[in-house]
Parts: sequence; C-alpha cells; structure tokens
Amino acid sequence: MFFRQFVKHPGMIGSIIPSSSTLVDSMLSGVDWQRTRLFVEYGPGVGTFTRTILERMHPDATLIAIDLNLDFVAWLEARIADPRLRVVHGSAADVRRFIAEAGHRQADYILSGIPFSTLPDGVGDAICAETQAALRPGGEFLVYQYSAYVRQLLSAQFDEVAEQVEWRNIPPCRTFRARKTERLAQAA
Ligand SMILES: C[S@@+](CC[C@H](N)C(=O)[O-])C[C@H]1O[C@@H](n2cnc3c(N)ncnc32)[C@H](O)[C@@H]1O
Repeated sequence: MFFRQFVKHPGMIGSIIPSSSTLVDSMLSGVDWQRTRLFVEYGPGVGTFTRTILERMHPDATLIAIDLNLDFVAWLEARIADPRLRVVHGSAADVRRFIAEAGHRQADYILSGIPFSTLPDGVGDAICAETQAALRPGGEFLVYQYSAYVRQLLSAQFDEVAEQVEWRNIPPCRTFRARKTERLAQAA
C-alpha cells in the first residue's frame, strides 16, 4: 500500500518505505504523555506512528491525524477503531481549523512526517507558521526528515530547535524538536 502510493505521488509521500520502529521510539521518547490532551499527527500514512501514539496516549486525550492522501485516510479509518482518534482528510496547513472542529484550542504536540523539501513553494512555510500558532505555550513540533531543508523553515518560526540524526533508521533520518517558548507565545 505505502509503496503503491509512493509510485502514484512521489512528491507527496517522499519515502519508499514507512518509518522504522526505532525512529518511532526515538521521536516519541520525550513526550509527556501524562500532560498531553491533544496530539496532532501530520502525514500518518499507513499509521506507523499513529498506533504507537494511541498505545501511549492518556485515555482522555485526542489524536488528530491529518493526511492529504484520501487512500491513506480510508486505510486508517478501516483499520484503527479507537474513539480517541480523529482521521482528517486535508492539509496540515489547515491544522487550526481541524483543531477547532475537534473542540480544542491548542495542541500539546504536533508530529510531522511530511516531506517538506518536495512540497510546492510556500506550503512548507505556511505549515510551519500555522503549526507554531496551533501549539500551546511550551508545546513542541516534532519533525523527522531525510533532508535538512526543514531546518530553515523551523528556525523562522521557533526560537528553540534541537536537531539529531537517528542512525539506526534505514536510511538515517534527521529529527527536529522545535519548542514554542513562553517568550514566543507572549510575542504573538
Ligand atoms: C513519508 S510519508 C510518512 C508516513 C508515515 N508517517 C511514516 O512515518 O511511515 C509522508 C505523508 O505525508 C502526507 N502529506 C504530504 N503532504 C501533506 C500535507 N500538506 N498535509 C498532510 N499530509 C501530507 C502524505 O500523504 C504521506 O502520508
């Protein structure tokens, strides 16, 4: 399913295979699950992160998974039955509308698997700006990418960006953790 979608939409999918469980663990290891009530995932694909997020998430929390590809949305809806999950067909650029429609105000964490370097011009900037606005003060934007391109988009919106390389993923993958500091929230 994942490979078929890559062949149909290479720029939108950005990778031939889903992420490894090592990458999933390393991306989610710093999440404060006790405090999280709204988690948003961009580009869930076949649910590689989605299932683990649901396993770790608080019973009262909500996960909004947003994907531009209708086939992935239908796949997830047919395979994961969890009342805490809301699968949305659309663009991450509309995250604030989807959060409001789910009855929430701001997200604690937003995780992204979107291939920023192959998006049409301006879309990556818009997604990062909307994400910053959609996070609560102290909230974090967690991003995994095979290219360093997203670094400049994150630095334009967030004043704290930490970067690492997950060497155990095949191929090795860059991970970014961008925090919405109290200072940034007050400046808005
Ligand atoms: C590399 S795949 C990641 C799949 C999965 N999360 C994983 O780690 O294996 C990228 C995903 O981003 C989705 N995508 C691309 N552009 C998007 C956008 N603007 N908004 C939401 N999803 C998008 C694609 O449809 C695809 O599901």
